[in-house]
Amino acid sequence: MTTVIDATRRPRTPRKPDTMRDLERRMVAHLAGGGTTDMANAPMSVSPTEYTDPARLEAERRELFGKLPILACLSRDLAEPGDMFTFEEAGPAIVIVRGQDRKARAFLNMCTHRASRLVLDCTRRKLMVCPFHAWSFDLEGRLVGLPGEPCFDGMDRDERSLVRVPVGEWGGMIFVKAHAGDEEIDVEAWLGDMGPQLLALDLANAKPLKLDSSETQANWKYCLDTYGEAYHFSTLHQTTFGTSSRSNVALYDNFGLHYRVGFTHNSYQDLVGKDEGEWPDTPYGGSHFIFPNSIVYGAPMEGGGSMIGMYRVYPTDDVDRCRTLFTVHRASNVPPETPDQAFIDAHDYIYQVVNTEDYSVSKEGQRNLMNAPPGFRVVFGKNEAALQDVHRNINRILGVQPE
Ligand code: FES
Ligand SMILES: [Fe+2]
Repeated sequence: MTTVIDATRRPRTPRKPDTMRDLERRMVAHLAGGGTTDMANAPMSVSPTEYTDPARLEAERRELFGKLPILACLSRDLAEPGDMFTFEEAGPAIVIVRGQDRKARAFLNMCTHRASRLVLDCTRRKLMVCPFHAWSFDLEGRLVGLPGEPCFDGMDRDERSLVRVPVGEWGGMIFVKAHAGDEEIDVEAWLGDMGPQLLALDLANAKPLKLDSSETQANWKYCLDTYGEAYHFSTLHQTTFGTSSRSNVALYDNFGLHYRVGFTHNSYQDLVGKDEGEWPDTPYGGSHFIFPNSIVYGAPMEGGGSMIGMYRVYPTDDVDRCRTLFTVHRASNVPPETPDQAFIDAHDYIYQVVNTEDYSVSKEGQRNLMNAPPGFRVVFGKNEAALQDVHRNINRILGVQPE
């Protein structure tokens, strides 16, 4: 199957990154217009099989999660030499290691003796020692310690180095490909015009504070779709997110495979008709989708600066079950007096709302799609443009004609 991915080609004329003021002008214009929103040209419908067909899931796992760069963590998740980060949601168990030379390397998290999992916790260390028979590997993956060495007479140690995994670090983000290989991923090319927007979040200096996960009885795309539109805020999130952000007033910007959605905080209503010189300064932010499954969300915090929330949805072995990783990082622009706890509280709130509201609807919707009557189609409105593009792009990469 041939995969054509536009975002890996460097644009001839890079698009100038938007400032927060650019985005705010558009939000205020939507509010001045009585509550309009960015839209696609037409509604689009998709078959329920996009969410329910096991063969389809298999193709997605193989072609998307098995071949494309997948966001694994941020740079400060492995800040110092000897720090490591385990990541297994995209398929094989992977460990990412910061070397003495500060370079991030990724390996299958698999001992080359009898394949035991090598790294179980991510404490800083100089050697990775296997819990099974204590083979040990240095931070570059070389087998450096072999108890009972004479028993392995004739074995070539060099061939027993850890198995490399493609990795790339750029803009404070670390991407891997979930298979063996020693390729260096060109993250900047992968992100295309989305890259400079993410640079504005200074992810390289974002401090990790908390990681949570949850499993949901729904297809991974059903859950993922809930992050891409503001149409449901006043109903599903009536007493939560809907109290702070305007329903169905959102910005949408497409960056090839990736996109950004800007949700409109209620406070922007006060800026309608006000001279721009009087608008407060807000740090750059928005909900950035990195294909195929990751949201990097920059949101202003009370007291100044930003919270970085990441929400990443992965398929599992079952077509109707997915796993989400929720993380929160403290951005570099936050004043020192803001306690870390403020970020953890914000994260816990989002985790709880997403799981009890978005994912509860996802679960019920999935159940209905599994039992949908013949001919039923899911429809995405013009105001659900991000969802349209994601489904279209997935179909294109899988090389399938949408049903
Ligand atoms: S499996 Fe790792 S040392 Fe035996
Ligand atoms: Fe939601």
